[in-house]
Amino acid sequence: MNAATPPPRRRKLVAGNWKMNGSLEASDALVTALKAGVRGGAAMLVCPPYPYLTVVAERLKGSEIMLGSQDVSSRVGSGAFTGEVAGAMLADVGCRYAIVGHSERRALFGENDVVVAEKFQAAQAAGLTPILCVGETLEEREANRTDEVVERQINAVLEAAGAASFAKAVVAYEPVWAIGTGKTATPEQAQAVHARIRGMIARQDATIASGLLILYGGSVKGSNAADLFAMEDIDGGLIGGASLDASEFLSIYGAASSR
Ligand code: PGA
Repeated sequence: MNAATPPPRRRKLVAGNWKMNGSLEASDALVTALKAGVRGGAAMLVCPPYPYLTVVAERLKGSEIMLGSQDVSSRVGSGAFTGEVAGAMLADVGCRYAIVGHSERRALFGENDVVVAEKFQAAQAAGLTPILCVGETLEEREANRTDEVVERQINAVLEAAGAASFAKAVVAYEPVWAIGTGKTATPEQAQAVHARIRGMIARQDATIASGLLILYGGSVKGSNAADLFAMEDIDGGLIGGASLDASEFLSIYGAASSR
């Protein structure tokens, strides 16, 4: 019998999605507090609103905390696209990641699977790592449609960008009913969907699948993070509300770092 290949150790990632919150002063204070609390272990990423990216980038110099954006234009290059922000501009100011397809963008700003796949590719074209968000609504979960919805969202990107594109991407499973509601998916509920997502990629490329970071998002707090991060296929978190509070975010980061 062949010796089993040990599973790869995926370094956990804790990402803060600040959404449309804060001010210049608050961003500065938050990042200063985070810098003081980061000590190796998991990787940390912050995604401030666009106008604060350069200031936060400046504060992060010399720190291992990484910078990302909450969105990116589906358009590549430059041109007459009023209000859009190109991936190259984000890379230019120090971003390494871009969130794409967050459920708030899908539900409130009309982004469909096609647009999300375009944004995923636009981020990669600019050298950014897209964090592709997927997840079902409460109605979809209650109708037992979770797998179907998540598969459709992942397949849209697989078809447009190919399995190889997942070698430089992160997936975030964020059940819509758990975002900002205080209702967290149980570790078992989240693990089941994460395993399914990894399985979808594994059917196309097992190596890429085993290295892929799959984050959980939806009311993660210091008090529930450790149980979620203990699950085999949960590689960290995409944190909204709790990422605005330095001590809470650092406690989540601590839970990821001790795994
Ligand atoms: P939440 O948001 O942590 O406030 O639930 C998560 C997200 O929307 O990324």
